[in-house]
Amino acid sequence: MTRPSWAPEGIDLDRPSASRVYDYFVGGMHNFEIDRQLARMIEQFTPNVAETMRANRDLLRRCVRYLTDAGIDQFLDLGSGIPTVGNVHEVAQARNPEAKVVYVDIDPVAVAHSQAILADNPLAQVVHADVADPAAILADPAVTKLIDFSRPVAVLLLGVLHFVPDDADPAGAVARLLEGCAYGSYVAITHATADGQPPEVLEAQKLSGRTSTEIVLRSRAEIATYFLDWTLVDPGLVHLPLWRPDNAADVGEHPERSGAYGGLARKD
Ligand SMILES: C[S@@+](CC[C@H](N)C(=O)[O-])C[C@H]1O[C@@H](n2cnc3c(N)ncnc32)[C@H](O)[C@@H]1O
Repeated sequence: MTRPSWAPEGIDLDRPSASRVYDYFVGGMHNFEIDRQLARMIEQFTPNVAETMRANRDLLRRCVRYLTDAGIDQFLDLGSGIPTVGNVHEVAQARNPEAKVVYVDIDPVAVAHSQAILADNPLAQVVHADVADPAAILADPAVTKLIDFSRPVAVLLLGVLHFVPDDADPAGAVARLLEGCAYGSYVAITHATADGQPPEVLEAQKLSGRTSTEIVLRSRAEIATYFLDWTLVDPGLVHLPLWRPDNAADVGEHPERSGAYGGLARKD
């Protein structure tokens, strides 16, 4: 197939990617037929998957609003994805024009498109890196220029750690990313789980192996360890729609069907 102008050279157009499948589910335009085919197959096993992805994106916006209102003005957004409406810098800078954001993603399409939309925004930059390589992220010039770790920072790990296999030590990577953060910093995590899910979820999980980033479903107890000893903000680590909904009606009858947990914790 022909490579569209927004897709950087060298990407594999014959293999679906997690970021483009997510982009499709949240209504974005940066995905190929190969991504949409996989999305439709996943949907056969988990019909509410698009709802889950939107619930994740909605939590991101609520969380960034919460953080900006709490005085946070610097964000390190890991696994940031292909920019779509309501990105972290848009939500944060709408409330505080001085807010700084560094996006990090492993996917070249996500990085290229982020670079394009951030070209005129000196307070937001994007880094091409693997979240499992915290040393590279923390040493990156964009991070050292924009993020001052002696002041409170928000580290966002939304919908990304389930792409990090156990042998890449996600817990160690998170701990390394958080260890240098000042008191008053926050970490936000959302993560897919099989807890309480029908067995078909495992079929959908296997399909994710067609991308270069297979999903690892983890239990609530395991996800909770990523927050270290930081203090969870109310209501704790909960199914996505239950995390500080704007309206009670947004929660729906079955928040557990989101198949993912989300939480925010502060370093006290
Ligand atoms: C489901 S999207 C989440 C996007 C955004 N954080 C959100 O919550 O709306 C997951 C993103 O994580 C990226 N990703 C997957 N594995 C990664 C890794 N090891 N390091 C950095 N990014 C990764 C994918 O490329 C994708 O863009």
